[in-house]
Amino acid sequence: MYKGIELSASLMCFDWLNAGSQLKDVEHCGVDYLHLDIIDGRFAKDFTMGSSIIDVFRNATKMKSDYHLMVDEPSSLFETFKKTEGDIFTIHQEACRNLHRDLVNIKKQNQGINVGIAISPATSLESLEYVIEDVDVVLLMMVDPGFKGQELVPQTIRKISKLKNMIDKMGVKVKISVDGNVHKNTIPLMVAAGADILVLGSSGLFKSDMNISDAISLVHKAIDEGIEIRCSGGGVNYVSSRN
Ligand code: DX5
Ligand code: ZN
Repeated sequence: MYKGIELSASLMCFDWLNAGSQLKDVEHCGVDYLHLDIIDGRFAKDFTMGSSIIDVFRNATKMKSDYHLMVDEPSSLFETFKKTEGDIFTIHQEACRNLHRDLVNIKKQNQGINVGIAISPATSLESLEYVIEDVDVVLLMMVDPGFKGQELVPQTIRKISKLKNMIDKMGVKVKISVDGNVHKNTIPLMVAAGADILVLGSSGLFKSDMNISDAISLVHKAIDEGIEIRCSGGGVNYVSSRN
């Protein structure tokens, strides 16, 4: 947590040949969550990791787990993944035929778990209207789901502001998480627009030309800028660049 903004490090973006030491570095830098992308080859065209790999990392850290299931009809996997109090367990709006039932069941089956709903860039915020009171987190995808290293879909920035207004107007206690192309140039806009949790991947944290501690310093600086913009009520135009 840095100035009220929580940080979540994406395991699929680790340098896996140095994963143990990166896990320690990330935890040492005050990152709150380990972001666990689970992909089934159907909802998104790739595969990532299952519970045996995930548990190795869960057992080696005190950071909470931030599950992000990019999986069609994920309810059959709810029991597969271990969860402890304070973890986040997020499923996609687009993937569930019985969305409300699935969200309620996650909560029912796991005391103290934060339930999340994720939406892809093309999915409208209106799709959340009748489920938002049953979730703790809305994860807004800033890129299309499935792959690291993609360019931001720019209109997702105004989606954050719109969601923030919707949450405030409805008076619900829901955090906004942003995932995909979160880095020093996009963070100020995301934070100014209302993001509460930043998912840090290949663009913002796991970089070939920088160590984790230096990358986190840039993230902190970008959060400071975002808070300043938010407090001054200003806005910034996004200039497309990955660095
Ligand atoms: C994208 C994943 C992200 C991943 C992206 O589908 O959900 O968790 O970490 O990070 P970047 O865009 O920075 O590589
Ligand atoms: Zn993710």
